[in-house]
Amino acid sequence: MNMVLMTPEYNSEVDDTFLQDVMEGLRKHKKTLPCKYLYDKKGSQIFEKICELDDYYITRTEEHIISSNLAEIAEFIGPDAVIMEPGAGNCTKAMCILTALQTPISYIPIDISSEILMSAKNTITAQLPKLNIQPIVGDFTQSECWPLLMQNMVNMRGEGQRRVVFFPGSTIGNFSPEEAVALLKKFNQQMSINDGLLISTDLVKDSVILHRAYHDSEHVTEEFNKNLLLRINNTLSGNFDLKNFSHQAFYHEKKQRVEMHLVSLVEQQVCIAGEFFNFFDRETIHTESSYKYTKRGFYRLLEQAGFDPCCTWIDENDYFAVHYAKVL
Ligand code: AVI
Repeated sequence: MNMVLMTPEYNSEVDDTFLQDVMEGLRKHKKTLPCKYLYDKKGSQIFEKICELDDYYITRTEEHIISSNLAEIAEFIGPDAVIMEPGAGNCTKAMCILTALQTPISYIPIDISSEILMSAKNTITAQLPKLNIQPIVGDFTQSECWPLLMQNMVNMRGEGQRRVVFFPGSTIGNFSPEEAVALLKKFNQQMSINDGLLISTDLVKDSVILHRAYHDSEHVTEEFNKNLLLRINNTLSGNFDLKNFSHQAFYHEKKQRVEMHLVSLVEQQVCIAGEFFNFFDRETIHTESSYKYTKRGFYRLLEQAGFDPCCTWIDENDYFAVHYAKVL
């Protein structure tokens, strides 16, 4: 398959960065682990299960918003577009958009897994045989990736064709507002005036609904969170005892974010790659933040990053928002 490799293919067994990031995070006074490591093969499968949960409203609400406003979204994007999707996964959301567009030129999905990209490419080609699909294997959070990614988009674009970055799933919410602006600026710097950004955000809402979404009754989110400890055990010679940790998720009203933690249930010592880490009873590892925005609040971020918000589609419960913004 014609696929561009931006970084060595993801392989946790030989991933030194994973080891470094884990050690750095656990040496901190307030222990933390980067949330991107929740998504190894098993974690990605568990996340797919989360997306189907009744308690997790995000995925189905976004799908509903996109499918109910598809014609208008397609109009904003316009004909002959080049669509780029960072962290594309199985590309199902893009598929919905691509089928609604007028003569899309190419689609550039980026993901750390070539396996997922390969199967997505086959599925899309079966439905849209004329579309040029140029998958890129890489970690879009790594800044070295960006100039090359965007160069790819420049190369693929012809006269009068618009480039659109598609960033669904409220993934932007897993970055702090400062990191989000920095990432959006990276998109923006490589784009031209009138190029577009189709991006979704989870809206600020009643904390009971949020608590249910991140503390689901089927305990799938708990499995997702604890899988990170299993990953450390399996790939970094860790010895976390999973029954000594519990899943915790709560909404921090002031910071407008759901925080996910792993709570040590006893005083204990854990060894990873030969180094010992002490945990006091109830000490936590902060594993993820999921920021929630008001429409206005997110517009401020878009504006700081050089985008002009054009339109926002929101569901009838005011749970979730999909935005289209243009490069200024
Ligand atoms: C991928 N991301 C937008 C999800 C979220 O809601 O923040 C990840 C997730 N974490 C726990 N459940 C889902």
